[in-house]
Amino acid sequence: MTTRPRPLVAGNWKMNGLKASLSELSAIRDGVMAGGAGRAQTAICPPATLVMAAADLASGSPLAIGGQDCHANQSGAHTGDVSAQMLKDAGAAYAIVGHSERRTDHQETSAQVKAKAEAAIAAGLTAIVCVGESEAQRRAGETLAVVGKQLEESWPAGAAAATLVIAYEPIWAIGTGLTPTPADVAEVHDFIRGVALRLAGAEGAGIRLLYGGSVKPSNAAELMAVSNVDGALIGGASLKASDFLAIAAVYKG
Ligand code: 13P
Repeated sequence: MTTRPRPLVAGNWKMNGLKASLSELSAIRDGVMAGGAGRAQTAICPPATLVMAAADLASGSPLAIGGQDCHANQSGAHTGDVSAQMLKDAGAAYAIVGHSERRTDHQETSAQVKAKAEAAIAAGLTAIVCVGESEAQRRAGETLAVVGKQLEESWPAGAAAATLVIAYEPIWAIGTGLTPTPADVAEVHDFIRGVALRLAGAEGAGIRLLYGGSVKPSNAAELMAVSNVDGALIGGASLKASDFLAIAAVYKG
């Protein structure tokens, strides 16, 4: 039997961050070390150029570092790509795969996302697989069908609670300041838990289900209290240590 998952609060810096941004990362590390994230695990996924420096800075602290994508192969002739093995070697513990920005900007399919997630797990990383519907799909009442199909097709073989995290990120909520109602989040997260139990058996109970999309200090408590929400994947608000820590503070006490 798996127990209730330990929450995970993860930041996705996207294509933001220069060396100077490492001061924010140090502040996040210090805040986490001072107990600022309570019982939650924390991770920051900076751009690939900063992964190694970030991992060095976070080394010896509970703050984990992750990549934002990885290639499905370990090495080879793939100019410009970064492999999961490289992320692991640089000190990462997580790799986000299948973010909607990659599905849109790079036409990534769920089959490719599955291959990437499997590569991440094979390299010793925890894969954070992102799913979520567009505004049009939500309006058409297709949310659960879309999310269900993405999960089925992106699900890495043999995934377990320690190796897979699912992030539900409605595309229309990303960077817009809009969020689904808690009832809408509950509907999707309860549905995802059901899929996880079906695809991973008992392990599915321990797989963390993160909500992402315009998570802010002002709405974090309400969103994190929702059924089957085991943490957050934070974009814009993760760039500022004070905002990231204010969100993680939901899990204090
Ligand atoms: P925002 O928090 O900026 O809406 O981004 C969410 C996201 O895409 C995290 O992966």
